[in-house]
Amino acid sequence: MSVFSDAISNFLAPIKNLLDDDSVTEIMINGPKEIFVEIKGQVYKTPNQFEDEATLLSAVRSIAQSVNRIIDGDNPRLDARLPNGSRIHAVLPPMAKCGTTVAIRKFSKEKLSFKDLVNFGSLSSAAARFLDVCVHLGKNIIVSGGTGSGKTTMLNVLGTRIPKTERLIIIEDAVELQIHAEHVVQFETRKPDEMRGIGEVSIRELVLSAMRLRPDRIIVGEVRGDEALDLIQVMNTGHSGSMGTVHANSPVDACTRLETLCLMGDTKVPADAIRKMIASAMQIIVQCSRYHDGGRRTAQISEILGIDEHGRYIGRDIFKWVQTGRDEATGKYIGEMIGCNYVPTFYNDIVVNKFPFQKNLFAPPEWAAENGTVKKKAA
Ligand SMILES: Nc1ncnc2c1ncn2[C@@H]1O[C@H](COP(=O)(O)OP(=O)(O)OP(=O)(O)O)[C@@H](O)[C@H]1O
Ligand SMILES: [Mg+2]
Repeated sequence: MSVFSDAISNFLAPIKNLLDDDSVTEIMINGPKEIFVEIKGQVYKTPNQFEDEATLLSAVRSIAQSVNRIIDGDNPRLDARLPNGSRIHAVLPPMAKCGTTVAIRKFSKEKLSFKDLVNFGSLSSAAARFLDVCVHLGKNIIVSGGTGSGKTTMLNVLGTRIPKTERLIIIEDAVELQIHAEHVVQFETRKPDEMRGIGEVSIRELVLSAMRLRPDRIIVGEVRGDEALDLIQVMNTGHSGSMGTVHANSPVDACTRLETLCLMGDTKVPADAIRKMIASAMQIIVQCSRYHDGGRRTAQISEILGIDEHGRYIGRDIFKWVQTGRDEATGKYIGEMIGCNYVPTFYNDIVVNKFPFQKNLFAPPEWAAENGTVKKKAA
């Protein structure tokens, strides 16, 4: 079934087969004559084409109209969410040099679970069980990663494991997370009115509201502004188990990124105090990554221990994904997620709460354990 209503399907006839194909997760249109798709993490060029720039522009305009938005010379960028959750971003010429440029991330009804991530090889079963335990213990978790690396998917999986009795407040720019629990309140930001420029409601304002609405946990879909400081305060003040995602390349980078975001606001809190707050709020960071072979994997799961005497964040890997080879036929990386021989500081919580998670699951496999370092697996 198409992600678009019948009213605009006519305009989209040139890409109908791509919209209808459930294996296509993303459609990328670089002007009327060049259309690429992503299937299972790999990008392919398709023979599909729009007749000309005007036809493509009409299609994009009709999509914008269907969600009460405008895309034209004065508003040459469109960032919209369709009623079914699919996401569309478009940029018009002359900014877009190859013609109207569009990316459509299709909404998949089938949300992935821990089991799927383990089956895809993007998480080991031990790591999945560990994350599950962290969610149950109410650890603060930040999912970090680059664009399209699987952060929202991971946050969704983690959120689904939150005990059903807890009151959960979810805040997003555009509703994307689908966490089915008994007691969920979902908030979405609002952009300012395009004509009058008023009426905006930001993530930060919604976090402030959430704090007054008796949350057990707060989830911020994507932390990318000065709401970072509020989330850190939430995490430090009795709403442990809160979560969010952030754009960063490593767990320690995620802390630094949050620091930068905190400082973006008109905060009067000094920088070193913010650093201390972040260091104490951060507990687990899940690093998602899209590798060159197209695979999305959990690259690291780390614990943040605080800051050292030089003011640097101290992170210790608990699990990490290690590449051990490459399949010559498919080009896919071969590898596995291994324990890093580090037992998290809260292991005793795991024991006293009687979670069946043996200490030896943190140990690396025999092939990797050499003088405490990870070596390459013998071919
Ligand atoms: N582990 C995985 N294995 C395979 N596909 C995945 C995995 N995780 C996510 N995906 C797919 O990758 C695409 C992007 O995922 P997602 O939206 O979670 O990324 P993101 O990091 O939140 O992206 P953005 O930075 O744009 O918000 C989706 O189509 C999703 O279904
Ligand atoms: Mg996302």
